[in-house]
Amino acid sequence: MSPSTQTTQTTQTVIEVRDLCKYFILHQQGGIRIDALDAINFTVKAGECVALYGPSGAGKSTLLKALYGNYLPTSGSIIVHCPRGPVDIAKADPRTVSMLRRTCISYVSQFLRVIPRVSTLDLVAEPLLYAGVRAKTAYDRAAKLLSRLNLPPRLWNLAPATFSGGEQQRVNIARGFIRPTPILLLDEPTASLDAMNRKVVVELIQEACANNCAVVGIFHDDDTRNKVATSLVHINEHHSKELCDAELMSA
Ligand SMILES: Nc1ncnc2c1ncn2[C@@H]1O[C@H](COP(=O)(O)OP(=O)(O)OP(=O)(O)O)[C@@H](O)[C@H]1O
Ligand SMILES: [Mg+2]
Repeated sequence: MSPSTQTTQTTQTVIEVRDLCKYFILHQQGGIRIDALDAINFTVKAGECVALYGPSGAGKSTLLKALYGNYLPTSGSIIVHCPRGPVDIAKADPRTVSMLRRTCISYVSQFLRVIPRVSTLDLVAEPLLYAGVRAKTAYDRAAKLLSRLNLPPRLWNLAPATFSGGEQQRVNIARGFIRPTPILLLDEPTASLDAMNRKVVVELIQEACANNCAVVGIFHDDDTRNKVATSLVHINEHHSKELCDAELMSA
């Protein structure tokens, strides 16, 4: 058996998205229906980086939020093969979603959710501390990642509320990457970074893939996408429509 055949046979499917649909009803705005996702299908294997690709407003962030359990899909399934067995996030109860986030899925949102008075170091170390890693190891790893992302040490003991967009994004990236998980979701992680820090993020993503992480990401610049993506999933734009009364009643 050739090495490439061996690799294929041992590569695990980690995420299976099947016929995923999501629409939003704007009840306060005349019952407008926004069709954000329409019959999305793709799989992600361990070590792959799938890039979601499509025009602004097409539904890329909506899909990522559905993968993280933030948005409940209208129909379809998202099977995650986590160490405890397969789970359909599209139908999972809040306790199961919480377990998956604790053990299996990391998510770097587009913008950092700043918690007042919590320092940068505490914010970055928190996912490891929460996973039971001892404090010294967690803070050492946080400091190492912040250094790698060129965040000046003078900022580490400050809460990031007053940081620039790029500084906040680097804190968010450090927090998302600090705890190795089987799945990593990235929403435009390099959008407000300079070339030097974009390069660091590309390396972090490549290292995660080399460690068998399944990555799903949205990358606003072609260069980053070309460097990290092993495949592309096109998300097409849909149009909102006004629902008739009967449709509204059943929505
Ligand atoms: N919570 C929500 N309620 C209502 N509509 C929403 C909600 N979240 C997203 N949408 C709508 O769904 C559509 C897709 O939004 P989404 O943020 O997923 O787009 P995107 O592809 O990530 O765009 P961008 O590239 O600009 O970030 C948009 O029309 C948006 O207005
Ligand atoms: Mg988006």
